[in-house]
Amino acid sequence: VVEHDIRRSQEREMRTLTYFVAVSVDGFIADAAGAFDAFPMQGPHIDAIVAEYPETLPGPVRAQLGLDGPGRHFDTVLQGRRTWQVGADQGLPNAYPHLRNVVFTRSPGAVAGPGLEVVAGDPLAHVRALKEQPGGGIWLCGGGALAARLLPEIDGFVLKLNPVLLGRGVPLVDGEVPAPALERTAARDFPSGVSWLSYRPVRSPG
Ligand SMILES: NC(=O)c1ccc[n+]([C@@H]2O[C@H](COP(=O)([O-])OP(=O)(O)OC[C@H]3O[C@@H](n4cnc5c(N)ncnc54)[C@H](OP(=O)(O)O)[C@@H]3O)[C@@H](O)[C@H]2O)c1
Repeated sequence: VVEHDIRRSQEREMRTLTYFVAVSVDGFIADAAGAFDAFPMQGPHIDAIVAEYPETLPGPVRAQLGLDGPGRHFDTVLQGRRTWQVGADQGLPNAYPHLRNVVFTRSPGAVAGPGLEVVAGDPLAHVRALKEQPGGGIWLCGGGALAARLLPEIDGFVLKLNPVLLGRGVPLVDGEVPAPALERTAARDFPSGVSWLSYRPVRSPG
């Protein structure tokens, strides 16, 4: 039975969880008011998102750009309730209708939207179960609190580093975490001053 299970997991590629997120040089994903409009929203780094990560754009932006294909990296997005709230407050209770959209909250009555999967249980256990299901890449949209909880299951980071200092705000990872060392796997500079830095955690086997 064990041999059979090992063969099965080798045949099926494991789903991975990637924290693909915009961040300031001093490590904040939003300012103290929860806004991120200090990050430049035009330029070649945005063109790269459109070309390479179109599934991470909100539904209305995709419609405007005529993007309706499948995701290139992800078929699922995970959001903490406060991240979801940003879209909901702008009239977008499901900003990513083209993806399986999972929102974590401890007050499930507070979250609703067409096609949303609202999860009140432990995010870590839920992600471990998701990874066991067939499917594509899983995008951790944010925010910092959810990232801290999910850190043991994050397989990769793509940090869109913006040439901006915020001083204070929402940290990239917000919580007590046994932080793994990171290995840089890619680095890319855009003429707009934005850099994309990719990392993966260095975990000891077992
Ligand atoms: N720059 C970017 O690319 C980017 C991307 C995403 C988000 N953001 C920003 O990030 C901010 C939100 O981040 P955040 O760190 O404040 O919140 P968050 O991680 O988005 O959401 C935290 C919420 O998730 C729910 N939750 C359920 N179980 C949890 C657990 N075990 N641990 C932690 N949270 C759990 C709770 O919702 P309840 O309170 O409902 O129980 C908690 O309050 C927003 O300002 C947004 O603009 C920026």
